[in-house]
Amino acid sequence: MVRNELRYYGVGVCATTNMTKRVLSGIRANGRLHLGNYLGAVKGMLALQEDPSYETFYMVADLHSINVPYNPENFQAAVRDVVLDYLSAGLDPEKSTIFIQSQVPQHVELSYLFSTVITVARMQHLPTFKEKVKSYPENVNMALLYYPVLMAADILAYKASLVPVGIDQEPHLEVAREVAQKMNDRYGLNLPEPQRFATSGEYVPSLTGEGKMAKSVEGSAILLTDSLETIRERLARVPTDSGKGESVPIEGGVASLLKFAELFLGDTRVHELKEQYTTSGIRYGDLKAEIAEAIFAELKPIQQRRTALEADIEKVDRIILEGAGKARKVASQTVVEVKKVMGLL
Ligand code: TYM
Repeated sequence: MVRNELRYYGVGVCATTNMTKRVLSGIRANGRLHLGNYLGAVKGMLALQEDPSYETFYMVADLHSINVPYNPENFQAAVRDVVLDYLSAGLDPEKSTIFIQSQVPQHVELSYLFSTVITVARMQHLPTFKEKVKSYPENVNMALLYYPVLMAADILAYKASLVPVGIDQEPHLEVAREVAQKMNDRYGLNLPEPQRFATSGEYVPSLTGEGKMAKSVEGSAILLTDSLETIRERLARVPTDSGKGESVPIEGGVASLLKFAELFLGDTRVHELKEQYTTSGIRYGDLKAEIAEAIFAELKPIQQRRTALEADIEKVDRIILEGAGKARKVASQTVVEVKKVMGLL
């Protein structure tokens, strides 16, 4: 059971008051989806999809995936994998527009128009840009600098006011709000300032006990496609201590385990465990087995749906094609509106 407490961040939740409120989110295609993506983003995407007051647009951010070294030969498969993960997690093409970013060229067009109101210095100072410069010093390309502007375009092309993403995306949302503000001030537009829609899994820690769960960090993640055996093995490697101490650790492997306990076993169990830590002690072998079972219970139905979908790839292709058509229709209206006020039409 995953705690599914959802809450809004920030103020001014919706700027599109006189129509259905729109939602947009996306995930890059740099690897299979993991528990961080699922709990931090997909859970929120699902919650909003089920709320009839929202019109939901969910994409694979393929253009955001090619600014770091990648393999073009298997990239189409990687993109389709994200769509399969989306559908098997419960995204429903009857309720949400599911599409691939590069199939809606209006995003790129809009990002160029938006780049005229954002300074290079602002982009260079973003923590996400600095991290990429550190990880790939040989590959500091223009696309990395453009990343948040393209993300602003992704969101504002649909005039989306809510964005279900993990907490790590907050600096990018700030840029999107800044772009909206500046475009509105300068050109009299009425773009919403998008807010993050947060879930209780907005920050899923790494299994290594250091930082967040990430696709790029070896040994840090549990994938949505992992078997019970694999989940057990991965959890077995989480570093622990003697199981007992004066106060409960707030960082490291034990803190990660307790976060997983909170997300999958519930608050009462975490309370019990914290108590045990300072009294009788925690037996990590048992706890890891308990968490592995609970995670797998959540993932099993997703994996079953995935197997069924893999056998019907034509259906998946149809969903992608229809999604691109619907998304283009909305995004092209925004592009026309923006070009008009900018004197380009
Ligand atoms: P990406 O592909 O890095 O991550 C996809 C989503 O998963 C969330 N996430 C996490 N949440 C909690 N704990 C974690 N350990 C964790 N790791 C990842 C991320 O917050 C994200 O929500 N820039 C975006 C993709 C994007 C996008 C957009 C998102 C492009 N355009 C427009 C929203 C709207 C990204 O890199 O996500």
